[in-house]
Amino acid sequence: MKRVFSGVQPTGNIHIGNYLGALRQFVELQNDHECIYCIVDEHAITLPQDPKELRKHILDVAALYLAIGVDPQKSIVFVQSDVPAHAELSWILTCNSYTGELFRMTQFKSKSQNKESAPAGLLMYPVLMAADILLYDTDVVPVGNDQKQHIELTRDLAIRVNNTRKKTFVVPEGRFMKEGARIMALDDPTQKMSKSAENIHSRISLLDDDNKIKKSIMKATTDSEGIIRFDPENKPGISNLLNIYSVFSGRPVAELEAAYEGKGYGDFKKDLVQVTIEALTPIRERFNEIRYSEELPLILKDGAERANAIAVRTLARVKNVFGLGF
Ligand code: AQP
Repeated sequence: MKRVFSGVQPTGNIHIGNYLGALRQFVELQNDHECIYCIVDEHAITLPQDPKELRKHILDVAALYLAIGVDPQKSIVFVQSDVPAHAELSWILTCNSYTGELFRMTQFKSKSQNKESAPAGLLMYPVLMAADILLYDTDVVPVGNDQKQHIELTRDLAIRVNNTRKKTFVVPEGRFMKEGARIMALDDPTQKMSKSAENIHSRISLLDDDNKIKKSIMKATTDSEGIIRFDPENKPGISNLLNIYSVFSGRPVAELEAAYEGKGYGDFKKDLVQVTIEALTPIRERFNEIRYSEELPLILKDGAERANAIAVRTLARVKNVFGLGF
């Protein structure tokens, strides 16, 4: 069976972008792959976090994994900082990376806002991500489109080490959805939807209540043409909403365009509110059952033990290749 690894940062409540781009793949893959799903808390601290909030979000993300259908009997679910090998392999990979390639990462450029001095963790983020992936001899990495560049870097690092040392790493492939791979912010459809954006109406979180969902969708930026047509370049707002509607309802975009011909954005948005509420209500209900259950910390403890058993073996192999230790 091929091995799958992916993770989400506990930097806030998971939104529909994270879900449609990455998480829904987690569930799909677990029946015929060996899946490892991580809550990447060490990535979260590349920017300052309130410790209490971070802990809360770690458990929220873990409960959301289970609420969307990740099954801990089939998949390993664990917290990154519970497996020390991530940080250790990250250092070894850092020593095989070049600052030039790291400065070129678009996520670094946008998160550091092109300042002359930025948190070093932001620069090293993709190397830690490479360590997460390579530590598990991962074949497939289900992620959103925004991670394409980081997956390429992971592959470059693996190939570089394999070419200069003996074959050390499995070279992974990214897995991207055809629809939903990049969900845009509702208030500014030229930017991706993000957990940490200031405006809460820029996103729909999986745990938003019905009123919040309604407000965010009804306020979503569209255009003045008033025609429901998929044209991401000229009509990014309505195209983004069509995309969300299509994935949640399972109806192709062309079918939606035909169904809403002659109708206004108001009618379309009202229906999208309904479709979104229907999709998210069962997730919210399951989350509420799991989040404060006694089972959740036990699942994470068991997941950390199982992940650690794989990670220490890979790390020992890598240290041996590099001549570390005695
Ligand atoms: N807007 C998006 N559309 C589709 N997929 C997305 N992902 C993120 N945003 C979108 C995918 O979700 C997974 C988890 O993301 P992450 O938590 O690792 O961090 P991120 O990509 O930086 O996501 P956010 O929500 O924007 O978080 P903050 O605000 O903390 O930076 C990844 O697979 C990602 O591709």
